[in-house]
Amino acid sequence: MKICCIGAGYVGGPTMAMIAKQCPDIGVHVVDLNQPRIDAWNSDELPVYEPGLDEVVKEARGRNLRFSTMVDEGIAEADMIFIAVNTPTKTFGIGAGRAANLEFIEKCARQIARVSHGHKIVVEKSTLPVRTAEAVKRILESAGNGATFDVLSNPEFLAEGTAVKDLLNPDRVLIGGESAKAVDALAQVYGRWIPADRILTTNLWSSELSKLTANAFLAQRVSSINAISALCEATGADVDEVARAIGTDSRIGPKFLKASVGFGGSCFQKDILNLVYLCEHFGLREVAAYWEQVVNMNDYQKRRFAERIVKTMFNTVSDKLIGIWGFAFKKDTNDVRESAAIHVCRDLLRERARLRIYDPRVSADQVREELLGVMTDSNGILNEGDRKLLEKNVTIVKDAYAAAENAHAVAILTEWDEFRTADLSRVQASMQQPAFMFDGRNVINSAQAKAAGLDFHCIGRA
Ligand code: NAD
Ligand code: UGA
Repeated sequence: MKICCIGAGYVGGPTMAMIAKQCPDIGVHVVDLNQPRIDAWNSDELPVYEPGLDEVVKEARGRNLRFSTMVDEGIAEADMIFIAVNTPTKTFGIGAGRAANLEFIEKCARQIARVSHGHKIVVEKSTLPVRTAEAVKRILESAGNGATFDVLSNPEFLAEGTAVKDLLNPDRVLIGGESAKAVDALAQVYGRWIPADRILTTNLWSSELSKLTANAFLAQRVSSINAISALCEATGADVDEVARAIGTDSRIGPKFLKASVGFGGSCFQKDILNLVYLCEHFGLREVAAYWEQVVNMNDYQKRRFAERIVKTMFNTVSDKLIGIWGFAFKKDTNDVRESAAIHVCRDLLRERARLRIYDPRVSADQVREELLGVMTDSNGILNEGDRKLLEKNVTIVKDAYAAAENAHAVAILTEWDEFRTADLSRVQASMQQPAFMFDGRNVINSAQAKAAGLDFHCIGRA
């Protein structure tokens, strides 16, 4: 058996590395158009930071795992082809700002159709709107070169930062398809290391919709606890105590109840907006509005955090230095896509604050690129004021203490473990007085922060 995966990103790379590790007799070829990304997969500096991933890749690479840009060859040789390309929110035309951009999926389907001979199983690994498999199948079958195809939906549920753990021991693997033989072929691959009762099979449409629904439910929990955090700040309740109290109810459960500066990542917002678009498409306006509110609440939470910083610091942060601790959308990843930090930093910059940013895994280029993106308008224009702010008011440093030095405030935007154990007295002593700390992840012990002399504020506590 030979497998090809199109797309060597945060999903394609780790997922295929795990399949190759677990199935030494299966040849796994991961292909991508992005040469630097492929070069990185073939080097010691993988393009994706994930705890434990280096070891998995090292074990299989050169044995039965390869990374290349030879897309046609990869497709032609394979019995099973995974499509794991990006499906971002459309930024233009019909459905702009909501619908998924399926351009890359369609290009893959056309390329598979053009290059294939014999029979192939095509697996949708990317997150897709319901009934995309129908379009993929039509494109595949339209090439007329005699090749035949089965299309399966096999959405990925890994979370970044815990990808290796999630792939090794998933709650479930979901396979949707019409052909029992094709479903069984894929189930057998996962069955090498995953117990059979965790491999769920459904029809194609249930599988596609389950992925969007899972992300919508997860994001909804974060928005729900974040909504309560605003009420806690107004009333004197403590959101972490409320989360603990409700999370011990086994019907609610303790996970995904951590109040924060807002959820980020490449998928929650994109997938909910996609769900909203689908509902609107089917005339279900109330259902669309219900889910859209999860995203609206998240925008409110990010905005509210920046506003709280300004208000607390005597209603002005103009020309004040704010140390930013963390830029990734969560800990243990180098991914910054849709990170709450981008929006908070933009809002502070527009209040003319000076920012000194530190993240242990995110490069200075990535930070600048995201800030440039968020300050550029929909016509691609960066106004002169914002250009100056980006140029003069943003510094990126390589150490948390350096970010805090001489700062009027420190804002914690990612829950990296090193911030939990920071020497708060040292931080406080190096700052302008009064020294403010705004913990957007509730990682700092408030008693210790106060004992260190910090004017301390966190999420969901008055
Ligand atoms: P990504 O942007 O990191 O990677 C996608 C890769 O596909 C890129 O390297 C790009 O160059 C490549 N690509 C695009 N078109 C191509 C083509 N025609 N031929 C060859 N390569 C092509 O994206 P990702 O984060 O890995 O997400 C991929 C999909 O998986 C998305 O649909 C996403 O919603 C879903 N997903 C992501 C996660 C996650 O944690 N990131 C988890 C579950 C599901
Ligand atoms: C999420 C899902 O958890 C995965 O199952 C899914 O496969 C993936 O999206 C996807 O489809 O891309 P991911 O975005 O990588 O995974 O990370 P999460 O752990 O879900 O965190 C998302 C965001 O929510 C982060 O910004 C995180 O800090 C925030 N969050 C999470 C909270 O603010 N509070 C919580 O209690 C949990």
